[in-house]
Amino acid sequence: MTQPALSHDAAPNFHSAFAADVRAGLTHTPQKELPSKYLYDEVGSALFEVITVLPEYGVTRAEEHLLAKHATDIVEHFPHDLTVAELGSGSGRKTRRILEALCKKRPTSYCPIEISRSALQLCRRELGDIERISIVGYGRDYLAGLAEVSKKREANDRLLVLFLGSTIGNFCRLAATRFLRDIRNMLKPGDALLLGTDLIKPTPTLIAAYDDSVGVTASFNLNLLARINRELDGDFPLDAFEHVARFNPDAHSVEMHLRAKRDVMAHVGAAKLTVMMKAGETIWTESSHKYRAEEMAAIAHDASFECSHQWIEDKWGFAESLLVAR
Ligand code: AVJ
Repeated sequence: MTQPALSHDAAPNFHSAFAADVRAGLTHTPQKELPSKYLYDEVGSALFEVITVLPEYGVTRAEEHLLAKHATDIVEHFPHDLTVAELGSGSGRKTRRILEALCKKRPTSYCPIEISRSALQLCRRELGDIERISIVGYGRDYLAGLAEVSKKREANDRLLVLFLGSTIGNFCRLAATRFLRDIRNMLKPGDALLLGTDLIKPTPTLIAAYDDSVGVTASFNLNLLARINRELDGDFPLDAFEHVARFNPDAHSVEMHLRAKRDVMAHVGAAKLTVMMKAGETIWTESSHKYRAEEMAAIAHDASFECSHQWIEDKWGFAESLLVAR
């Protein structure tokens, strides 16, 4: 059966939620901000795929390397029947290693949870050929989707949740602990979470990763304003903004901002909003928190997980942690 063509990636009330979030963020004082989830429309997701292969951005390569090398050991921790849920399906490239190793041992159901329908389709195309896999996609928020998967799984199945790519880095330490706790509350003891985390490294390396020489990350960031222009009837002059990546030493995070190069006035029709910015003022669009591997284990412990194993890629600095629900 073919799905009806969808003109939009997300839910019908997406447009009004986007407008409300833009309004709230751009009237926020003293620091204007926009939620980073809106970076990922079709253009933004394509630009992010390019980021993952940039020489300066080692995150994705490091994780792919870890998963390719250790998929078999990771899977050894699960002698039971498994349902695998993934938060954010991405391109499916990294997940393939784990799923192949699992399906070699027994048939496995894989449930990608991803708000973007085009990403869900892509991932079905990418992973659908794995032998003995059954894929059921959930076009939902992470936690709502996970609750559904957890409820619907076979009675004897353990649940393995994948949260890869250092998406956890979008959360500060407190929010990360809360998020892990929310996940834990949907699991039974013995279920597990495989968590990918980018590690703290020298500041120049970090800055280069978020301000690459070709300007792909700059385009990825600026696309957020272009998207507001496209979807919310905005008139931001893109040439008046520049991409900034800076390290916040207190939060251990790389922050992305869009800085006005001159005084700017812009309107967002669908949000009934006029925005005034002084030259030099910024809109904060994303934070990417960096962790130490031991710290991730401690955060997991606070969220009622036990960190049973970590695989570390030292060259770039990336950790894959296997967290078992206590
Ligand atoms: C997808 C959130 C993990 O923070 O490294 C990459 C997003 N932003 N370059 C990250 C991102 C700019 C990425 N995450």
